[in-house]
Amino acid sequence: MAYRVQGVVVREKNAPATVETIIVPDPGPGEAVVDVISCGVCHTDLHYQQGGINDEFPFLLGHESTARVAAIGEGVTEIAVGDRVILNWRAVCGQCRACAKGQPQYCFATHNATQKMTLEDGTELSAALGIGSFAEKTLVAAGQCTKIDEDSDAAAVGLLGCGIMAGIGAAINTGEVKRGESVAVIGCGGVGTAAIAGAQLAGATTIIAVDIDDAKLEQAKHFGATHTVNSRDTDPVAAIQALTGGHGADVVIDAVGRPETYKQAFYARDLAGRVVLVGVPTPEMMLELPLLDVFGRGGSLKSSWYGDCLPSRDFQMLIDQHKLGRLDLAGFVTERIGLGDVQAAFDKMATGTVLRSVVELS
Ligand SMILES: NC(=O)c1ccc[n+]([C@@H]2O[C@H](COP(=O)([O-])OP(=O)(O)OC[C@H]3O[C@@H](n4cnc5c(N)ncnc54)[C@H](O)[C@@H]3O)[C@@H](O)[C@H]2O)c1
Ligand SMILES: [Zn+2]
Ligand SMILES: [Zn+2]
Repeated sequence: MAYRVQGVVVREKNAPATVETIIVPDPGPGEAVVDVISCGVCHTDLHYQQGGINDEFPFLLGHESTARVAAIGEGVTEIAVGDRVILNWRAVCGQCRACAKGQPQYCFATHNATQKMTLEDGTELSAALGIGSFAEKTLVAAGQCTKIDEDSDAAAVGLLGCGIMAGIGAAINTGEVKRGESVAVIGCGGVGTAAIAGAQLAGATTIIAVDIDDAKLEQAKHFGATHTVNSRDTDPVAAIQALTGGHGADVVIDAVGRPETYKQAFYARDLAGRVVLVGVPTPEMMLELPLLDVFGRGGSLKSSWYGDCLPSRDFQMLIDQHKLGRLDLAGFVTERIGLGDVQAAFDKMATGTVLRSVVELS
């Protein structure tokens, strides 16, 4: 028996995201079918629609979710039917060379479901980030389900499944922000604003938000930004230097992922400072920097995949920070929408008012 449910599909590059009937197979060995409770709209879904990730259309979009386990396949012991979970795209394998080196946060062989979900005519779907949870039900590897407690707002905590975890982790894990440090974040969408919240959680005392939209900068203050810079009319490098004694910030996080924002991050950090790239570039983007500056400025240039998180370590810990009043996860939820509103939510990403639109399914 397979499940016939509604899901949000993009059939070809730049085609609209539409609600269609999809077929979710029963879980096979090591797999689980979940009832999706909520799913945030992440810029990465828009990258998929625009062909910026790969060309494996049609896509089943969505990947920032709280869900409840509906069925498990053979050999699944770590979760049970009825468990409340956040879906993750880092189901650590435990065996690849990263895992073997004790660095499971980089796991190079994370698990996804082996079977494919399909359209009604049998066309195989590519699930966004191996999840595909703008859908009433989805099929994942059991390891993609991280159990969480019952008493939290599903729409808010589900955002830890991608963008908010990526942002917080870019600051606390990849950037290793320490108490008293200065941090600048370029791009204050869901991911960048979460990096600001993460910097505050880690004890940074100067937190500079940079965006081209004043509404985003205003929101950033609520999450811990001590200063804001609108880089549409102000040079962000000079502004960040001026706010940090003329030196630049200890850590600069690029949450946009364009050559110009990366260069700003590169030059806006102090000598021996850290640059963290968490925004995702597209294939045609190229970066040119004087190699002497790469050497002469020292420090580290790191990319942050999923905030270098470990779902089993970080999801419930951050929910607990939320419950203690130290992390306003609910503040990231700008609007609660239905499955049919995903395309409109993509369009709103450009307007500057929305941190996260979240689809609620049950
Ligand atoms: N590394 C990861 O694991 C990971 C995870 C999730 C998302 N992402 C990526 O992070 C990026 C941000 O995602 P999001 O959901 O926050 O997107 P978003 O669309 O909500 O926010 C982007 C923000 O950047 C601002 N911006 C755009 N161009 C700018 C510029 N030139 N200078 C300054 N600000 C600018 C926009 O005004 C907006 O506030 C995307 O590229 C997304 O794919 C990465
Ligand atoms: Zn691994
Ligand atoms: Zn995402």
